[in-house]
Amino acid sequence: MATTKPATTKTAKRSRPAGVIPARSNTATKRDRRPQTRRIPTEHLGSPSTAVVVTGGGEGIGQATALRLAEAGRPVAIWDKIGERADDVALACRERFGTLAIGVTIDVTKTDDLDNAVAVTRNSLGVIGGLVHAAGVIRAKAIDQLTDEIWDETMDVNLRAAAMLTKALTPALIEATPGSAIVYVSSMDAFVSNKLVSAYDASKAGLLGLTRSAAHALGPSGIRVNAVCPGYVRTEMTDLMFATDAVIDHIASTIPLLRVAEPDDVATVIRFLLSDEAAYVTGSSLTVDGGVTSTRPS
Ligand SMILES: NC(=O)c1ccc[n+]([C@@H]2O[C@H](COP(=O)([O-])OP(=O)(O)OC[C@H]3O[C@@H](n4cnc5c(N)ncnc54)[C@H](O)[C@@H]3O)[C@@H](O)[C@H]2O)c1
Repeated sequence: MATTKPATTKTAKRSRPAGVIPARSNTATKRDRRPQTRRIPTEHLGSPSTAVVVTGGGEGIGQATALRLAEAGRPVAIWDKIGERADDVALACRERFGTLAIGVTIDVTKTDDLDNAVAVTRNSLGVIGGLVHAAGVIRAKAIDQLTDEIWDETMDVNLRAAAMLTKALTPALIEATPGSAIVYVSSMDAFVSNKLVSAYDASKAGLLGLTRSAAHALGPSGIRVNAVCPGYVRTEMTDLMFATDAVIDHIASTIPLLRVAEPDDVATVIRFLLSDEAAYVTGSSLTVDGGVTSTRPS
C-alpha cells in the first residue's frame, strides 16, 4: 500500500499516515519528540475475547481501532462502504497479529443489509461482543446554506445508522455476554459548535442522546454503551482542513496538549471502553481532544 512522502516545504501539506501504516511513525515534530506515554500491556484489554464490528474501519479512527483490537487478540470485522479498504485492514490485522479478521463491504445506511452483514460476521468470527460505529461524514454547510440532502446524508450515516446497527447487533451482543459493549464515535462538536457544519454538530450531539438511551435500555441485558468525543484528528476527513503545516501548527497551538491527535490516540480509548477494564462504565461520553473543550481562548 502506498505511503505519503513527508512534505519538504514549510507551507506544503504535511503528510498524514496513510493506509494501514501505524500512526506517529512519520509525523515527528518538535512537540512529538517529547517522551511519549509508555504503551501498557494489552493482556487485559483483550478481555472479553469476542469479535468486534468496526464500521468505517477502512480508514482513520476506525482503521486504527481495528488494528488496536487485533493487537489485543480480538477478532475484528471491518465494515466499510469501500470494500478494498476493509479487506486491506483485515489483512493487516491477520498478518501483524495473527487474529481472525474480515472485511465486509457495506453501506451502513442500508438498514436492509445489516442482518446479512451480521450473519456473515457471525459465521466467520464467532460470537460478536462489540460494536464501534466510526463510519461518519462531514459536509461543510452553515445553517443558512443547509439542504435537505446534506442534512439527511449526515444524519443517516452519523446517527440513524448508529441506532439501526445497535438494533441489528443486539441479539448477537446479548448472546456474547458477559462483557458486550458498544462505542459510538461522536465528536467535540457535540459540545462546542462549528458553525460551518451544522448538520454534523447536530448528529454528533444526537449520538450522545442515543448513547444514554441505548445504555439505559441495554444495561439490564449486559451491554454497555458509551461514546468518545474526539477533537482534531489527522485523517482523510480532515485532510482539507489540515491543508498546510502552518494550519496544523496554528491549530496545535490552541490545544492544551500542543498537538493534533493521531487516530491511534482515539483507538486506544475505544479499545479500553470495549474491554472489561471499563466494566462499570456505561451511558458516558469521554472527550479525547487534548483538552480543547475544557478551555477557552486566552
Ligand atoms: N477526524 C477528526 O478530526 C474527527 C474528529 C471528531 C470525530 N470524528 C469522527 O470519527 C469518525 C471517524 O472519522 P475519521 O476522521 O476516521 O473519518 P475518515 O473519513 O478518515 O474514515 C471514515 C470511514 O468511514 C467510511 N464510511 C463513510 N460512510 C460510510 C457508510 N455509509 N457506510 C460504511 N462506511 C462508511 C469511509 O469509507 C471511511 O473509510 C467519524 O464519525 C467522525 O465524525 C473525527
